[in-house]
This record gives sequence, structure tokens and C-alpha cells, in this order.
Amino acid sequence: MIDDIIEISKQAGNLIREGFGKSLHIEYKTTEINLVTEIDKASEKLIIDFIQKKYPSHSILAEECGGVTKDSEYIWVVDPLDGTTNFTHGLPIFSVSIGLQKNNETIAGVVYDVMQNIIYSAELGGGAFANSEKIKVSSTESLKQSLLVTGFPYNVAENPEGAFELFIALTKNARGIRRLGSAAIDFCYLSSGVFDGFWEVHLHPWDLCAGKLIAEEAGGLVTDFIGNAINIYSKKILSTNGRIHDQIIKVMNNI
Ligand code: IPD
Ligand code: CA
Ligand code: CA
Repeated sequence: MIDDIIEISKQAGNLIREGFGKSLHIEYKTTEINLVTEIDKASEKLIIDFIQKKYPSHSILAEECGGVTKDSEYIWVVDPLDGTTNFTHGLPIFSVSIGLQKNNETIAGVVYDVMQNIIYSAELGGGAFANSEKIKVSSTESLKQSLLVTGFPYNVAENPEGAFELFIALTKNARGIRRLGSAAIDFCYLSSGVFDGFWEVHLHPWDLCAGKLIAEEAGGLVTDFIGNAINIYSKKILSTNGRIHDQIIKVMNNI
């Protein structure tokens, strides 16, 4: 099935690339900072049509339309365009993210970094790859030498889970912090050793399903902010190379 996920991710990515830089029809979702374009919708339709044709009995959880619930052990978790704000502003950092779960366990994940043309992929127990190259997390040992990445949800103005305080505390304790605007890409750059850690609050299942598996298969650790195991519905996500995990948790819990 991984080949199918890669194939449809590429098709969706090609559609997105063709729309990049063109004039877009932008609609607001929950608020004026939460955007959706006709490209998000077209990408999602392409992916859903593919799944329904090839795997008609499977459930789908998809960001824009909600998806389709079937009596199946399989569920596809789809973010048709992760990084919509970047996409609409002409910043070339966005992706397609598709995870596949069987009995609530993620068994495959693909993130297509559209403008870099890199397919990040993982199957449970099979390692993580960038195109066909095996990838692994960094070996950085100390938070002070770490480059971290984060993001903010669309309800950021409400300071969910103390997001601003977390940002300040980690900025003071790490080498640097970046904010790219695609959580799926954040996970992949963590997985390939560019970033040493990534945290975010109030992500959605489609933001993290594929990326979490890729990070774990690259040797990374993914937990909540006190080190407990999480699932794709969790609201506090911390992913690191494993070595700096406890150092970040300590900072987070000493605010
Ligand atoms: C968003 C991006 C962003 C993250 C937000 C997400 P979208 O997804 O992943 O990096 O900070 O929390 O909602 O809306 O572009 O698919
Ligand atoms: Ca997203
Ligand atoms: Ca999206």
C-alpha cells in the first residue's frame, strides 16, 4: 500500500505545484487567519477519489470535508495541503500528508515536500526514507546546541496550553527556534536530523499522523509534554531525537 500512498501524494503535490503562484480563491474557515483555497479542496478530492476507487471499504479522515466513515479496520488520515498560509503567500514550504492506520495504529505514512520534490515515507518497523535514502534523527546531546522548530494553531490568540510561555522558555534554552508553517514538514526535518526537536499544541490528526510515524521510524521519540505516549488526537506534541527529550520536558515543566 505504501506505493499507492506515494503515488497519490505525488499526484496531489503536482496539482498543488501547478496552482502555486496563481491567483487563488481564498475562503476563511474558523477565523480570518484560517484559510482554505480551491487547491486544498481539489487536492483532497483527488486523494479521496483515489482511495474510494482502490480501497472502497476503508474509512477516511480528511481535513476539508471530514471524510467517510466505514466499518473498517483501516482509516486514511489526510491533510491535502499542509501549509496553506505559506501556499497562499507564495512561501514555498508546504506538503501533502497521508497516514494510514490499521486498528488505530499508524502502519504507513507519507509526506510529500512539494517544492523540494522529496517524498518522506515510513512503514511501521521498516525505517524512514527521504526518496530512497534512509534517514535518521540527529545525535545532538544538549538542548543548548539544538535547533528546534514549532508552530502555532489558528486559535493562537487564546494562548492555548500556554503556547507563548513555552515559546519564550524554549527560545531562552535552545540554540535557535524556527517556525516553518507546515507541521508535517517539521516532523520530516526532525526525522532527517535538520531539527533536533519539534513541539506544537492543538495539532489535528491529519497534521501529525504520517509525520509521527516517520519521526519514530527515523529513531525519534514522540510524546506529550510530560513524556507520555500519545495518539494522533493528542493536543500536546513533543518530538525529538530522543537525547534532548528530557531536557525539553524539564524546561516545559519549570515555567
Ligand atoms: C497548519 C500547519 C502549521 C501549524 C498549524 C496547522 P494547515 O496546517 O501545519 O504549521 O502550525 O497548527 O494547522 O492548516 O496549513 O493544513
Ligand atoms: Ca495541516
Ligand atoms: Ca491542510
